[in-house]
Amino acid sequence: MTQHSTGTSITFDQATKTYLGAAAPALDALDLEVEAGELVCLVGPSGGGKTTALQLVNRLVDLTSGDIRIGDRSITDQSAIELRRTIGYAIQQSGLFPHYTVADNIATVPAILGWEKKRIRARTAELLELVGLSPVDTWLPRYPAQLSGGQQQRVGIARALAADPPVMLMDEPFGALDPITRVAVQDEFLAIHRAVGKTTLFVTHDIDEAIKMADRIAILKPGGKLAQFGTPAEVLSNPADDFVGEFLGAERGLKRLALTTVGEVVSDSHDRAGAEAETADARTTTAGWPDVEATMTLREALSVVSAARAEGAIVHAGDSRLGEVSLRDLIAPPAAGEDREGVRA
Ligand SMILES: Nc1ncnc2c1ncn2[C@@H]1O[C@H](COP(=O)(O)OP(=O)(O)O)[C@@H](O)[C@H]1O
Ligand SMILES: [Mg+2]
Repeated sequence: MTQHSTGTSITFDQATKTYLGAAAPALDALDLEVEAGELVCLVGPSGGGKTTALQLVNRLVDLTSGDIRIGDRSITDQSAIELRRTIGYAIQQSGLFPHYTVADNIATVPAILGWEKKRIRARTAELLELVGLSPVDTWLPRYPAQLSGGQQQRVGIARALAADPPVMLMDEPFGALDPITRVAVQDEFLAIHRAVGKTTLFVTHDIDEAIKMADRIAILKPGGKLAQFGTPAEVLSNPADDFVGEFLGAERGLKRLALTTVGEVVSDSHDRAGAEAETADARTTTAGWPDVEATMTLREALSVVSAARAEGAIVHAGDSRLGEVSLRDLIAPPAAGEDREGVRA
């Protein structure tokens, strides 16, 4: 792997956009700091100003008032062209150039930057591997129309990462994918994010996607006002107002269960139960319990247990059996939010 820049902060400082002729702002005095290396999801209803907020950062849209800084530098201190070379941008439908091959799509920015051919080739191959498209020779000569939606999306991500920008902006990048492909591409992107640590502002209208992906979630309400900014656990356990509560929906309690994996709970319940779990009595009560993987979220495991009409599940990590979780362990994880913070810190 080549050396990667580790990201830099994005600061919205009273950032406001009122489109020409509009009576009210689309984005209203947004204050928000995305820390270096952080993945922040911007969520909210359609028309809430999410795309506007993102396009203000790379100056596809101009600020009406306020400022946005990348690191210490205002976005208005440099030309829009210069600015955009430091920002990876990925959008729904991938935005690939249809008449360019995969190789040429990924090479767009490096070519503009005047990289040598050899370096571009090496970088392109590295990125295709990174987004899970290998062997790379299969994909390099193809055109976007010869790829599935998920493959196009992966190429779109590779292109956004090509010149190793410290900042990534993503506007509903997985919005057009079917549910199975979507999960695969989300997982792929999370793994990339953990590996390369770009500061990422990720727009989605899907709160479940935000809960899965985000270090912190910023919720915009109609009129482009920030309703709440916090970790998924904070937002879910303590919605700032009725709007946020309604946006999170009636399944807020269930969504919280998506923040904890079965693996985290099974070790906890082992500590509590100690040697007790080894008794014959404990073994017989688990008869008919379904198997779940330690990497599953409590929410997914609860669904498996419910479908099996059981009182708990047997937890596996690959071939080894880790222990059991009861229905009670699944629905009342101990201090889930704090655990997660601890892991992420
Ligand atoms: N180029 C534009 N010209 C005028 N109004 C716009 C433009 N783009 C967006 N808007 C308006 O700004 C508001 C916010 O839009 P947008 O940022 O696209 O929201 P979201 O991405 O959250 O759906 C909407 O009312 C939309 O109609
Ligand atoms: Mg939008």
